[in-house]
Amino acid sequence: MRNVKIVDLTATKYEEALAVFRRSDWDETSLMYVKAEMKAFLKGDIAGYVRAHFVAATVDGSIIGVAAWAPSMCAFSVYELSWATVLPEWRHRGVNTLMLQERIEKIKAHHGEGRFTVLVYTWVNPMYARAGFVPVTANGERFVDNKGKCMMLAQFAG
Ligand SMILES: CC(C)(COP(=O)(O)OP(=O)(O)OC[C@H]1O[C@@H](n2cnc3c(N)ncnc32)[C@H](O)[C@@H]1OP(=O)(O)O)[C@@H](O)C(=O)NCCC(=O)NCCS
Repeated sequence: MRNVKIVDLTATKYEEALAVFRRSDWDETSLMYVKAEMKAFLKGDIAGYVRAHFVAATVDGSIIGVAAWAPSMCAFSVYELSWATVLPEWRHRGVNTLMLQERIEKIKAHHGEGRFTVLVYTWVNPMYARAGFVPVTANGERFVDNKGKCMMLAQFAG
């Protein structure tokens, strides 16, 4: 999409990135986790340890979307996608699609050789289907929570 750039979130953009979540009406509990993960990403105090890595979608230097990826604590061949949010006036124009592509590329670069699995917990939709994500089922049934979200996963070769 023209003019939209996906960049790593930097410390000077912390408040601006948080404002994107606030404008998107994320609840207080989610905001508490987002703040903690962002602070750990931007100024973590344990050398070499980062859990959630944040990317920002920008237009002319202003943030219009934020999203994260993280190595799972289950296994280092498993990764999670989280915290995708796009300002309401920028939705349905492919911004999260760009952030998804960028996050998969970053996971590939981080992971290196070998297969890996990526998890996401959200509504089934064509964007994830195109990227290879399929809903996870238990006992042959898709688990859907009360908001209609479910676990999806995709596998990639590093
Ligand atoms: C979900 C969200 C990030 C999508 O961003 P976007 O830039 O509009 O998405 P794109 O235009 O790249 O996506 C293409 C399609 O995939 C869907 N999609 C993209 N990301 C999605 C996600 N994380 N979960 C469910 N559907 C998604 C979009 O709904 C869109 O379909 P539509 O235009 O027919 O509605 C945005 O709507 C948003 O910020 N919503 C509020 C926060 C939220 O619900 N985040 C997801 C929490 S799990």
